[in-house]
Amino acid sequence: MKAIPVITLDGPGGVGKGTLSRLLARDLGWHLLDSGAIYRALALAAQRAGLHADEEAALSDLARALPLSFRGDADETHVLLAGDSVDAEIRAPEISALTSQIAAIPMVRAALLQRQRDFRRAPGLVADGRDMGTVVFPDAPLKVFLTASVEERGKRRLNQLMEQGISANLATVVAEIAERDARDQQRSVAPLRPAPGARLLDTSGQSVSDTYRVLQGWVQSTL
Ligand code: C5P
Repeated sequence: MKAIPVITLDGPGGVGKGTLSRLLARDLGWHLLDSGAIYRALALAAQRAGLHADEEAALSDLARALPLSFRGDADETHVLLAGDSVDAEIRAPEISALTSQIAAIPMVRAALLQRQRDFRRAPGLVADGRDMGTVVFPDAPLKVFLTASVEERGKRRLNQLMEQGISANLATVVAEIAERDARDQQRSVAPLRPAPGARLLDTSGQSVSDTYRVLQGWVQSTL
Protein backbone atom coordinates (compact mmCIF):
# COMPACT_ATOMS: atom_id res chain seq x y z
CA MET A 1 0.00 0.00 0.00
CA LYS A 2 1.31 3.45 -0.91
CA ALA A 3 2.11 5.68 2.09
CA ILE A 4 0.04 8.84 2.53
CA PRO A 5 2.31 11.68 1.32
CA VAL A 6 3.67 14.31 3.72
CA ILE A 7 5.45 17.58 2.99
CA THR A 8 7.42 18.88 5.97
CA LEU A 9 8.26 22.55 6.49
CA ASP A 10 10.69 23.14 9.34
CA GLY A 11 12.56 26.23 10.45
CA PRO A 12 12.93 28.85 13.17
CA GLY A 13 10.24 31.22 14.46
CA GLY A 14 8.90 33.95 12.17
CA VAL A 15 10.33 32.37 9.02
CA GLY A 16 6.94 32.15 7.30
CA LYS A 17 6.32 28.39 7.71
CA GLY A 18 2.75 28.95 8.91
CA THR A 19 1.72 31.08 5.94
CA LEU A 20 3.41 28.82 3.38
CA SER A 21 2.05 25.63 4.95
CA ARG A 22 -1.48 27.00 4.92
CA LEU A 23 -1.23 28.05 1.26
CA LEU A 24 0.17 24.67 0.26
CA ALA A 25 -2.38 22.63 2.23
CA ARG A 26 -5.21 24.70 0.78
CA ASP A 27 -3.97 24.43 -2.83
CA LEU A 28 -3.32 20.69 -2.57
CA GLY A 29 -6.54 20.05 -0.60
CA TRP A 30 -4.44 18.32 2.09
CA HIS A 31 -4.58 18.31 5.87
CA LEU A 32 -2.44 20.73 7.87
CA LEU A 33 -0.46 20.13 11.05
CA ASP A 34 0.69 23.23 12.96
CA SER A 35 2.80 21.32 15.46
CA GLY A 36 3.90 24.54 17.21
CA ALA A 37 0.26 25.11 18.19
CA ILE A 38 0.26 21.75 20.02
CA TYR A 39 3.37 22.70 22.02
CA ARG A 40 1.96 26.18 22.63
CA ALA A 41 -1.39 24.82 23.87
CA LEU A 42 0.50 22.55 26.24
CA ALA A 43 2.45 25.54 27.60
CA LEU A 44 -0.79 27.45 28.13
CA ALA A 45 -2.38 24.49 29.92
CA ALA A 46 0.76 24.17 32.07
CA GLN A 47 0.66 27.84 32.99
CA ARG A 48 -3.03 27.57 33.90
CA ALA A 49 -2.27 24.50 36.04
CA GLY A 50 0.54 26.39 37.80
CA LEU A 51 3.21 23.95 36.53
CA HIS A 52 6.78 25.09 36.00
CA ALA A 53 9.13 24.03 33.20
CA ASP A 54 11.15 21.78 35.55
CA GLU A 55 8.15 19.59 36.55
CA GLU A 56 8.90 17.12 33.78
CA ALA A 57 6.77 14.14 34.83
CA ALA A 58 3.70 16.28 35.50
CA LEU A 59 4.19 18.06 32.17
CA SER A 60 4.40 14.81 30.25
CA ASP A 61 1.22 13.55 32.00
CA LEU A 62 -0.46 16.80 31.00
CA ALA A 63 0.80 16.36 27.40
CA ARG A 64 -0.68 12.87 27.21
CA ALA A 65 -4.08 13.99 28.50
CA LEU A 66 -4.19 17.42 26.82
CA PRO A 67 -7.83 18.15 25.84
CA LEU A 68 -6.76 19.73 22.55
CA SER A 69 -8.70 19.95 19.30
CA PHE A 70 -8.56 21.91 16.08
CA ARG A 71 -11.53 23.38 14.26
CA GLY A 72 -11.76 24.72 10.70
CA ASP A 73 -9.68 23.99 7.63
CA ALA A 74 -6.34 25.02 6.13
CA ASP A 75 -7.71 28.53 5.43
CA GLU A 76 -8.63 29.20 9.02
CA THR A 77 -7.79 26.88 11.87
CA HIS A 78 -8.78 27.45 15.48
CA VAL A 79 -7.02 25.83 18.41
CA LEU A 80 -9.34 24.70 21.19
CA LEU A 81 -8.35 23.75 24.72
CA ALA A 82 -11.14 21.93 26.56
CA GLY A 83 -13.49 23.24 23.84
CA ASP A 84 -12.52 26.94 24.18
CA SER A 85 -10.64 28.86 21.51
CA VAL A 86 -7.14 29.83 22.67
CA ASP A 87 -5.78 31.27 19.41
CA ALA A 88 -4.67 34.60 20.89
CA GLU A 89 -3.45 33.30 24.26
CA ILE A 90 -1.07 30.72 22.77
CA ARG A 91 0.71 33.43 20.69
CA ALA A 92 1.48 35.70 23.65
CA PRO A 93 5.26 36.29 24.07
CA GLU A 94 5.44 34.71 27.55
CA ILE A 95 3.77 31.56 26.23
CA SER A 96 6.27 31.45 23.31
CA ALA A 97 9.13 31.46 25.80
CA LEU A 98 7.55 28.86 28.09
CA THR A 99 6.74 26.70 25.05
CA SER A 100 10.37 26.37 23.99
CA GLN A 101 11.39 25.45 27.56
CA ILE A 102 8.73 22.75 27.80
CA ALA A 103 9.44 21.54 24.23
CA ALA A 104 13.03 20.73 25.25
CA ILE A 105 11.83 17.96 27.63
CA PRO A 106 12.30 14.52 26.01
CA MET A 107 9.31 12.93 27.86
CA VAL A 108 7.02 15.71 26.67
CA ARG A 109 8.12 15.27 23.05
CA ALA A 110 7.59 11.51 23.29
CA ALA A 111 4.11 12.06 24.74
CA LEU A 112 3.12 14.26 21.77
CA LEU A 113 4.63 12.15 18.99
CA GLN A 114 1.66 9.92 18.11
CA ARG A 115 -0.79 12.83 18.38
CA GLN A 116 1.18 14.54 15.59
CA ARG A 117 1.49 11.40 13.45
CA ASP A 118 -2.30 10.95 13.64
CA PHE A 119 -2.65 14.02 11.39
CA ARG A 120 -1.35 11.92 8.48
CA ARG A 121 -4.60 11.19 6.70
CA ALA A 122 -5.52 10.87 3.02
CA PRO A 123 -5.06 12.57 0.64
CA GLY A 124 -1.93 14.06 2.28
CA LEU A 125 -0.45 16.25 4.99
CA VAL A 126 1.54 19.48 5.14
CA ALA A 127 3.37 19.51 8.49
CA ASP A 128 4.88 22.69 9.95
CA GLY A 129 7.34 22.69 12.86
CA ARG A 130 10.91 22.16 14.02
CA ASP A 131 11.37 18.37 13.79
CA MET A 132 8.76 17.35 11.22
CA GLY A 133 11.40 16.10 8.77
CA THR A 134 13.93 14.81 11.32
CA VAL A 135 11.71 12.96 13.83
CA VAL A 136 7.96 12.98 13.24
CA PHE A 137 7.80 12.19 9.50
CA PRO A 138 11.32 11.09 8.50
CA ASP A 139 9.89 9.24 5.46
CA ALA A 140 8.27 12.40 3.99
CA PRO A 141 8.93 12.54 0.23
CA LEU A 142 9.55 16.31 0.37
CA LYS A 143 11.29 18.00 3.31
CA VAL A 144 11.90 21.73 3.32
CA PHE A 145 13.98 23.76 5.77
CA LEU A 146 13.30 27.50 5.77
CA THR A 147 15.65 30.20 7.01
CA ALA A 148 15.75 34.03 7.16
CA SER A 149 17.79 36.55 9.10
CA VAL A 150 16.70 37.06 12.72
CA GLU A 151 15.98 40.77 12.03
CA GLU A 152 13.66 39.94 9.18
CA ARG A 153 11.90 37.24 11.20
CA GLY A 154 11.51 39.71 14.05
CA LYS A 155 9.80 42.22 11.75
CA ARG A 156 7.43 39.57 10.42
CA ARG A 157 6.59 38.35 13.94
CA LEU A 158 6.01 41.94 15.12
CA ASN A 159 3.53 42.48 12.27
CA GLN A 160 1.71 39.26 13.17
CA LEU A 161 1.47 40.30 16.81
CA MET A 162 0.18 43.75 15.86
CA GLU A 163 -2.46 42.22 13.58
CA GLN A 164 -3.62 40.23 16.61
CA GLY A 165 -3.80 43.41 18.71
CA ILE A 166 -0.77 42.39 20.83
CA SER A 167 1.61 45.33 21.39
CA ALA A 168 5.39 44.75 21.33
CA ASN A 169 8.55 46.45 20.10
CA LEU A 170 11.00 45.20 17.50
CA ALA A 171 14.09 44.93 19.71
CA THR A 172 12.22 42.83 22.27
CA VAL A 173 10.69 40.57 19.62
CA VAL A 174 14.11 40.02 17.95
CA ALA A 175 15.70 39.22 21.33
CA GLU A 176 12.90 36.75 22.17
CA ILE A 177 13.22 35.02 18.80
CA ALA A 178 17.02 34.77 19.11
CA GLU A 179 16.70 33.27 22.61
CA ARG A 180 14.06 30.78 21.43
CA ASP A 181 16.15 29.81 18.37
CA ALA A 182 19.15 29.13 20.58
CA ARG A 183 17.08 26.92 22.91
CA ASP A 184 15.44 25.07 19.98
CA GLN A 185 18.82 24.50 18.27
CA GLN A 186 20.76 23.42 21.35
CA ARG A 187 18.33 21.04 23.03
CA SER A 188 19.31 17.40 23.29
CA VAL A 189 16.20 15.94 21.65
CA ALA A 190 14.90 16.89 18.21
CA PRO A 191 17.03 20.04 17.89
CA LEU A 192 16.11 22.45 15.14
CA ARG A 193 18.19 21.44 12.11
CA PRO A 194 17.59 20.41 8.50
CA ALA A 195 16.67 16.76 7.99
CA PRO A 196 18.95 14.67 5.79
CA GLY A 197 17.87 15.33 2.22
CA ALA A 198 15.93 18.50 3.11
CA ARG A 199 15.82 21.30 0.56
CA LEU A 200 16.98 24.61 2.00
CA LEU A 201 15.07 27.79 1.27
CA ASP A 202 16.32 31.20 2.44
CA THR A 203 13.35 33.56 2.53
CA SER A 204 15.37 36.72 3.44
CA GLY A 205 14.29 39.57 1.19
CA GLN A 206 11.76 37.32 -0.56
CA SER A 207 8.03 37.96 -0.73
CA VAL A 208 5.62 35.21 0.26
CA SER A 209 4.70 34.73 -3.40
CA ASP A 210 8.37 34.40 -4.47
CA THR A 211 9.00 31.76 -1.83
CA TYR A 212 5.75 30.00 -2.56
CA ARG A 213 6.61 29.74 -6.26
CA VAL A 214 9.88 27.94 -5.42
CA LEU A 215 8.02 25.63 -3.08
CA GLN A 216 5.37 24.82 -5.68
CA GLY A 217 8.12 23.88 -8.16
CA TRP A 218 9.57 21.40 -5.67
CA VAL A 219 6.14 19.98 -4.91
CA GLN A 220 5.37 19.46 -8.60
CA SER A 221 8.67 17.71 -9.23
CA THR A 222 8.21 15.45 -6.19
CA LEU A 223 4.59 14.32 -6.31
O1 C5P B 1 6.23 27.26 15.40
P1 C5P B 1 5.96 27.97 16.70
O2 C5P B 1 6.68 29.30 16.81
O3 C5P B 1 4.50 28.11 16.97
O4 C5P B 1 6.55 27.01 17.83
C1 C5P B 1 6.62 27.42 19.16
C2 C5P B 1 7.68 26.63 19.89
O5 C5P B 1 7.27 25.27 19.98
C3 C5P B 1 9.07 26.59 19.24
O6 C5P B 1 9.90 27.66 19.61
C4 C5P B 1 9.62 25.25 19.72
O7 C5P B 1 10.25 25.39 20.98
C5 C5P B 1 8.39 24.40 19.90
N1 C5P B 1 8.18 23.46 18.81
C6 C5P B 1 8.93 22.30 18.82
N2 C5P B 1 8.72 21.36 17.86
C7 C5P B 1 7.83 21.56 16.89
C8 C5P B 1 7.08 22.75 16.85
C9 C5P B 1 7.30 23.71 17.80
O8 C5P B 1 9.76 22.11 19.69
N3 C5P B 1 7.65 20.61 15.98
